[in-house]
Amino acid sequence: MTADLFDGLDTPASAREPLAPGAMLLRGFARPDEVELLAAIEAITAQAPFRRMITPGGHQMSVAMTNCGPFGWVTDRSGYRYDAVDPESGQPWPAMSPLLRELAENAAREAGFPGFAPDACLINRYEPGAKMSLHQDRDERDVGAPIVSVSLGLPATFLFGGLKRTDKAQRHRLVHGDVVVWGGPARLAFHGVAPLADGEHALLGSRRINLTFRRAR
Ligand code: SIN
Ligand code: FE2
Repeated sequence: MTADLFDGLDTPASAREPLAPGAMLLRGFARPDEVELLAAIEAITAQAPFRRMITPGGHQMSVAMTNCGPFGWVTDRSGYRYDAVDPESGQPWPAMSPLLRELAENAAREAGFPGFAPDACLINRYEPGAKMSLHQDRDERDVGAPIVSVSLGLPATFLFGGLKRTDKAQRHRLVHGDVVVWGGPARLAFHGVAPLADGEHALLGSRRINLTFRRAR
C-alpha cells in the first residue's frame, strides 16, 4: 500500500467514494463491527420494537423504525419531531452504546467531519418493497453536523440528489457494511431509497437495516 492510498486516514482512498462536495461513501466501513452491531440492534429492538409510523398526511410508512440515544425521530398525525421518549412505551429510548457512537464518530472523521457527537440514531428496517421517498433531513436543530448512515443486510439503491427536490438524483448501490456521510454543502441534499429488491442476506435474511446518526439538539 503506498502512502497516498491512506493519506493519514484509516480507510484506503480506494474505499472512499466522494458522492458530492461534503458527501462521501465509505465502502465496507462498518464490516469489522457487523457482529456487535447486530447484537446491539437486537438489544435495542427488544426494548423499543420496530414500528411503522404514520406520516402527518396519514400514510403508514413502508419502512419500520425505532431509535436509540437521547433523542428519537418520530412521526405521527401531528408532525415530525425528535422526542426523548418512545411514544409506544412512554420510556426513554434505549441508550446509544459506545460501539455505535464511536462507529459514527469515526466515519464522520474519515469523511472530513471531526468532532461529530451524535445524540440520535434512527434505525430503519426495510423489507422487500419498502422504500423511502426523496426527502431532506431537516428536523435537526443545527444542520452544522453531518448525517452518518450505516447500511446492513440486503443491498439497496440509495438515491442522492441535490439541494432542490427536482435535481436529478444519482443512484448508488449500498451493500452490507457501507457507510455514507453527508454534511457541509451536502447536508440538506435530497436523498431516499428505491423499493428494496427481494433477496436473502446471510446475516439478516430478507431485510435491510439502516442506522442514521444525527445531532438532533
Ligand atoms: C434515511 O434517510 O433516514 C434512510 C436512508 C437509508 O435507509 O439509507
Ligand atoms: Fe434521511
